Formats: sequence, structure tokens, C-alpha cells
Amino acid sequence: MTSSSSAEPTRRDFLFVATGAVGAVAGVAAAWPLISQMNPDASTIAAGAPIEVDLAPIASGQDIKVFWRGKPIYIMNRTKKQVDEARAVPVASLPDPQSDQARTKEGHEQWLVVVGICTHLGCIPIAHEGSYDGFFCPCHGSQYDSSGRIRQGPAPSNLPVPPYAFVSDTKIKIG
Ligand code: FES
Repeated sequence: MTSSSSAEPTRRDFLFVATGAVGAVAGVAAAWPLISQMNPDASTIAAGAPIEVDLAPIASGQDIKVFWRGKPIYIMNRTKKQVDEARAVPVASLPDPQSDQARTKEGHEQWLVVVGICTHLGCIPIAHEGSYDGFFCPCHGSQYDSSGRIRQGPAPSNLPVPPYAFVSDTKIKIG
């Protein structure tokens, strides 16, 4: 009697431990696919790999901000008015002369893609603010136009255009 009652808990303990071990293995197995999916993303982003951005949700007159190589990138779906304004300016009159055509892609003129870091001291300008229908930097008042070109204030140069390409009408690859 005594020996069988002491054997039972031992068997239960074994079953409990075994079940727990199986559960732990299953947990690791379930977590692994998630981790293995996340790891390449994190490492590729850290390495500055290209990113693809779907433009379809960005309505005319709106913009989004994404991050590439740790930098904020503005993607703006410009209105016809914004494009016309950017192209009507005599290029030679600009502090950092560059045509809007040189800063955008032919056939996709409404899309402006620029690094959202003020070329003065690195603040992040605000889109759709300022006197030029483009960007305004609140730190020291630099104003960029709807092509991201410096028009007024202490910033010495235009917002840079990162390397990017259209992979379809509604998708770009940055980097
Ligand atoms: S950092 Fe933008 S104006 Fe100085």
C-alpha cells in the first residue's frame, strides 16, 4: 500500500514534467517562425536595405512619412496647383537652383519624395506649412517649396531626394 501510493505521485510528476516539456518545445516552435520572420526585417533595415512603399492610400494633397536608413522620408502626392507652382519658378532665381523636373520622376510628376531633414541644422520640417505650399522648419524658419527646394531662411540647400524608383504606378522602392 505504502509503496503504491508513493509510486503514483512519482508517475504523475513524470507526466506533468513531460507535458510541461512538450508544451515548452511547442512554444519555442511557435515562436521561432515569428522570430525568423522578424530578424531579416530588423537586420535589413539596420543595413539600410531598400524599402518598398505603397502609394495607393495617399490621396492627392496628402503626404506620409516613412523611415529609410533611420531618416524620415516625406512622400507627397502633390496637387496640380503644387506641381504648377513648383514648375513656374525661374530656376536661376532659387538659392539652390534645381528644376522640379530634376527632382521628380517623369510620368509621376505629382509625387515628391524627399529626405525630411532640414539642411540648416537637422530639424524635421512640417509638410504643408509655410508660404510656398511645401515645408516649414519651425526651428529657425526655413521655408521649402512644393518641390522641397529652399526658398527662404537659413537652410543652405534643398531637401535631398533619396534614390528611388517606381516599381509600379502605385509603388516605389527607396534605396
Ligand atoms: S534647422 Fe531648420 S531652419 Fe534651422
